Amino acid sequence: MASNLAPIPELYVSYESAQKLKVEAGNLASHDLTPRQICDLELLMNGGFNPLKGFLTEEDYDSVVETMRTKDGALWPMPVTLDVSEKFADTVELGQDIALRDQEGVILATMTVTDKWVPNKSREAEKVFGADDLAHPAVNYLHNHAGAVYLGGPITGIQQPVHYDFRARRDTPNELRAYFRKMGWRKIVAFQTRNPLHRAHQELTFRAAKEAQANLLIHPVVGMTKPGDVDHFTRVRCYEAVLDKYPSSTTHLSLLNLAMRMAGPREALWHAIIRKNHGLTHFIVGRDHAGPGKNSQGEDFYGPYDAQELVRQHQEEVGIEMVDFKHMVYVQEKAQYFPIDEVPEGATVLNISGTELRRRLAEGLEIPEWFSFPEVVKELRRTKPPRAKQGFTVFFTGFSGSGKSTIANALMVKLMEMGGRPVTLLDGDIVRKNLSSELGFSKEHRDLNIRRIGYVASEITKNGGIAICAPIAPYAATRRAVREDVENFGAFIEVHVATSIEECEKRDRKGLYKLAREGKIKEFTGISDPYDVPENPELRVETEGTDVDNCAHQVILKLEQMGLIAG
Ligand code: PPS
Repeated sequence: MASNLAPIPELYVSYESAQKLKVEAGNLASHDLTPRQICDLELLMNGGFNPLKGFLTEEDYDSVVETMRTKDGALWPMPVTLDVSEKFADTVELGQDIALRDQEGVILATMTVTDKWVPNKSREAEKVFGADDLAHPAVNYLHNHAGAVYLGGPITGIQQPVHYDFRARRDTPNELRAYFRKMGWRKIVAFQTRNPLHRAHQELTFRAAKEAQANLLIHPVVGMTKPGDVDHFTRVRCYEAVLDKYPSSTTHLSLLNLAMRMAGPREALWHAIIRKNHGLTHFIVGRDHAGPGKNSQGEDFYGPYDAQELVRQHQEEVGIEMVDFKHMVYVQEKAQYFPIDEVPEGATVLNISGTELRRRLAEGLEIPEWFSFPEVVKELRRTKPPRAKQGFTVFFTGFSGSGKSTIANALMVKLMEMGGRPVTLLDGDIVRKNLSSELGFSKEHRDLNIRRIGYVASEITKNGGIAICAPIAPYAATRRAVREDVENFGAFIEVHVATSIEECEKRDRKGLYKLAREGKIKEFTGISDPYDVPENPELRVETEGTDVDNCAHQVILKLEQMGLIAG
């Protein structure tokens, strides 16, 4: 049996032992794994991270960070570490077994803790990711999400993490190896991706397989990819559509539950080792493989060919052959794709960049058939309709009595008159009655109140509706947090209703300013409590000398200008 097809060691115990361990683990200290750790654990247990037998020990970690090798000399470029909080680490003694559980509390494995240490995260960032720069998603994760202490030690696998989606498309390394054996495939090229596939990808992968006289495995990552990527549900539906375009029984699609780090060259080498473990003989590496984008100086973290260079250097040792990713372009006169270095002289080359594609999707513009398959475009449009059909949130902020609620009401009615999307008004008073009735006006309570509004608004936005919020929301940091929540799903339009405190006090519609001046209401915004004036709102409306209808109209014009309502 060819070495790439023989079974690979896993870390699982037998079914009977697993049942026993599950019961015994009731007495062990438990660590609830983060989504990234669940991905890592799955690949540790199923052999995807062979030769690792557990989360890295301190010696292995130091060696991997410094030399890309474990202390025994095995090539391994990525620290796979179990980060935990100081509080949990304090409860764990060396030599102790701990239970590793998923987010519902289901036990997946036990680990014998042989090592416990506080890592130097800045050194890890510099050595592994090339810079201690928070613009790198993995560095940001390291400093802002990962726990302060690392635990290391061997794993005893009890069961695989449960996946409810696309079960038939997920394969362990041994399942893939068995599939290749069954199909009689000897040479197989892997294509790693975290993006939807378009025609150029289909051409390049098919060509790569043909040139290597091999079969093709589309092996997309569905664990964790770069923040902001197209979600994996949509991508898998797109991949399924593209699968039909290859000659039958030449190509297979399998999903890889890897948590990417976007570490460029080191990541590419890691991917190559993981693919080797999955039984592949060839691996396509492209320009800027697993690149994280720009650093905080606006420059690329890695050179465009650094990843290819590193994989090329180590391909023999890994036992997988690197295949150069050919940049394919469409030649109009020939109505056909060519590698960029084989384009006939004088021919017209057509291309649509990723940014241009996103713009066309956002604005509902045409995406030509030479660029992508209609089925793929349809899926992408279904997930991300044009802006004029997406949900969004209008967030009014300003003093009590500034006119927020009145303008918000007028805006709601105007949007309902236009129709097309459901509109919900989350007015300060209404929210305090229905969602936040137990809260007062301390900073803590105000923040909680605004975060609740933000949560509801983000859900409405996600589901394609319009949320209009009109609280005072006096703190800039909390408004920023709400913006971040909403912008995961759609646009956030902050409108500062800039009525001065003097004018609000003069109007004093509810008589509250008088009570606040008399000290009968404490912590009153603008009188005895702070208000951070928004520095860069999408819109600032002045209500003094302008009627409500006009103020609401200004918001409508802003929404039109942003493409959120059709002109
Ligand atoms: S916050 O800060 O955003 O949570 O405030 P909000 O939920 O919008 O509630 C503001 C309304 O509560 C009334 N009220 C007070 N406002 C500010 N400070 C104090 N101490 C206070 N006590 C009661 C006031 O009527 C606000 O209503 P609006 O609609 O803004 O005039």
